[in-house]
Amino acid sequence: MTALAISGTGLYTPPHSISNDELVTAFNTYVRNTNAANADAIAAGTKTALVESSAEFVVKASGIKARYVVDKDGVLDPDVMCPRIPERPNDQLSILAEMAVTAARDALKAADRKPQDVDGVLVGASNMQRAYPAMAIEVQDALGIDGFGFDMNVACSSATFALQAAADMVANGHARAILVCNPEICSGHLNFRDRDSHFIFGDVATAFLVERADTARGANSWKIVATRLKTKFSNNIRNNFGFLNRTAPEGVGKPDKLFVQEGRKVFKEVVPMVSELIVTHLADSGIAAAQLKRLWLHQANIGMNDLIARRVLGRDPLPGEAPNILDEYANTSSAGSVIAFHKFSDDLKFGDIGLLCSFGAGYSAGSVILQKL
Ligand code: COA
Repeated sequence: MTALAISGTGLYTPPHSISNDELVTAFNTYVRNTNAANADAIAAGTKTALVESSAEFVVKASGIKARYVVDKDGVLDPDVMCPRIPERPNDQLSILAEMAVTAARDALKAADRKPQDVDGVLVGASNMQRAYPAMAIEVQDALGIDGFGFDMNVACSSATFALQAAADMVANGHARAILVCNPEICSGHLNFRDRDSHFIFGDVATAFLVERADTARGANSWKIVATRLKTKFSNNIRNNFGFLNRTAPEGVGKPDKLFVQEGRKVFKEVVPMVSELIVTHLADSGIAAAQLKRLWLHQANIGMNDLIARRVLGRDPLPGEAPNILDEYANTSSAGSVIAFHKFSDDLKFGDIGLLCSFGAGYSAGSVILQKL
């Protein structure tokens, strides 16, 4: 089997950051305004009063302290509570493709590669810009890559599933190198009026290049030692937005057309699923947990990551061993583990082994064992 590598990574961080305090202030203003407008119905018992959120709860329950967004004003306006992103004409690059292209340029530079060295683009993300044409083809065109591109959606696991697809295609000789991009405008699918989840997500884009290990020349190149994917159907993270919505007008604009989750159930069911996936993947690959120098885990909840790291390592992770970017970025869906890898991998040395892992809606999980070249 041809050895494959991640030969460079890239990151695009939107310019606006929202702190928990700012987000909670906007949410609580919305709650007070709504309760005041419904005061009579609430007093008559025909409506339930909305309850305020708290910045302390958000940090304690999730580890999230802030998030980047493409539009701050709309999210923080209690009368809007949604990013405002103007439509662009068809002859302009779409916003998700633009974010992907910025991260992709960064990844190509890190890999010491030009667009002419790349044969394919995969955009793996939780939400697509539109039904078609594929974002990947738009990114391919913007970068001047002669080859092919397609989009794939496996929610939070889109990056690891795209990595496996890219690695398989390069290994089989279908492409010399494939660029994987993960642009995520999670603020677009987040219900900022929902107390249980209004704090969860942020926006970002990541990218990485997959090519043969023997051609990888990026200064921070990593051999893909083994990959393993897993899915198991669950309704506990769900979004019913889709092209058939207009055929059932009674449901248009309802909360189920945005991100909805049963957070407690997700926590309880995904931690064992992911821990077992990683433990068996390592065992089947002949790698002991003690050999792992770093865990780049999906970034959804600090408590989940601590538990998974403990189950995999058999002890508490040391500081920096399972890096956390949740405090600054929040949950960025498919991009989270790639951000952790991008920011916290180049200090490791030749031969060091690390594990990148995604998990989320589906349920879906992807485990990737990497070794520094
Ligand atoms: N502010 C203040 N209190 C809040 C609150 C908020 N914004 N949201 C919920 N609470 C309260 C609840 O009312 C509840 O109060 P009660 O105990 O008096 O009933 C309490 O906090 C606990 O609520 P719960 O929803 O059980 O919180 P939690 O500890 O499970 O944390 C999540 C919520 C969402 C952070 C957590 O479940 C989680 O991260 N789960 C995994 C999610 C995940 O990874 N999803 C993947 C997405 S891709």
